[in-house]
Amino acid sequence: SHPIIFDTDPGVDDAQAIAIALRHPELDLLGLTTTYGNVDVETATHNALLLSELAGKDIPVAQGAAAPMVKTRHPPPAHIHGANGLGDIDLPPVAGKADPRSAAQFIVDTLSARPGEVTLVAVGPVGNLAAALQLDPTITEKVKRVVIMGGSIREGGNVTPVAEANMFNDPDAASRVLTAGWPLTLVGLDVTHRCVLTGEHMTRIEAGQGELGKILAGSYGFYRDFYREFLGIDGCCPHDSCALAWLLRPELFTTAHGHLTVATSGDAEGQTIFAPQGRGFIETRWSRTPLVEVCLGVDGQAVSDWIADTL
Ligand code: BDR
Ligand code: CA
Repeated sequence: SHPIIFDTDPGVDDAQAIAIALRHPELDLLGLTTTYGNVDVETATHNALLLSELAGKDIPVAQGAAAPMVKTRHPPPAHIHGANGLGDIDLPPVAGKADPRSAAQFIVDTLSARPGEVTLVAVGPVGNLAAALQLDPTITEKVKRVVIMGGSIREGGNVTPVAEANMFNDPDAASRVLTAGWPLTLVGLDVTHRCVLTGEHMTRIEAGQGELGKILAGSYGFYRDFYREFLGIDGCCPHDSCALAWLLRPELFTTAHGHLTVATSGDAEGQTIFAPQGRGFIETRWSRTPLVEVCLGVDGQAVSDWIADTL
């Protein structure tokens, strides 16, 4: 099984992915680390604790970034995820407390304790990963792989014409994380926009997940309204679960290797820029950055079904 740390800003699609991380027999969830993004960081931590408790698990939850490294925070998208991050449904109280360590410290400690073994999966703005790199640059050699839901290679953006939300929310952190030289796979909108969790999927999920199922189904309804109104689709994109789908079912994805940067200012702020390996671009700052892997294609139906079946 894969030992993972899951860095998240829950968030409706984050909650779905957390449920997979908590329950999938091939995943060993060592901890949840939280960041602002879809909600403020305190709400993210609350939701992470709640989901873990409802799954009957006592997983460490370490709180992280409350704001971007350099820029001012964008307001949380309450029209997409609800003000409470879970579609504004009523939530039961939380009994547990967060780990006393910061998310960055938790990441450094966990990677250092098991060098070469732990995969870091990040599905929110990546400030915690950048902060962990600052605390201990040698984690680039200790992590097994970094898997990031974020960015967009050919698909265009979802918060600006060119930027995906997780990159846009902290482009300065993303720039450091994408060029840090660790084994990295980007799971971006090119594949997450091909996956749709339908109402029929959700009916099955609700039936199979007890208390947790009620939260997943209730928050799904709110999130789906957004997709219907703004994107005209019947269902929602399970962005964050796609990162776990890539980890466990890579054969459902096509990928390419190359150099990846993110624009940190101007009209392109938050845009991921991918230079495929071996394309013979003139010597640029792109070709001097380390090689990473990006997802370009997916069997969207198979991944959507895999997510629903897993949940
Ligand atoms: C990403 O942005 C967030 O709103 C979602 O949770 C996902 O991580 C998609 O762009
Ligand atoms: Ca997210």
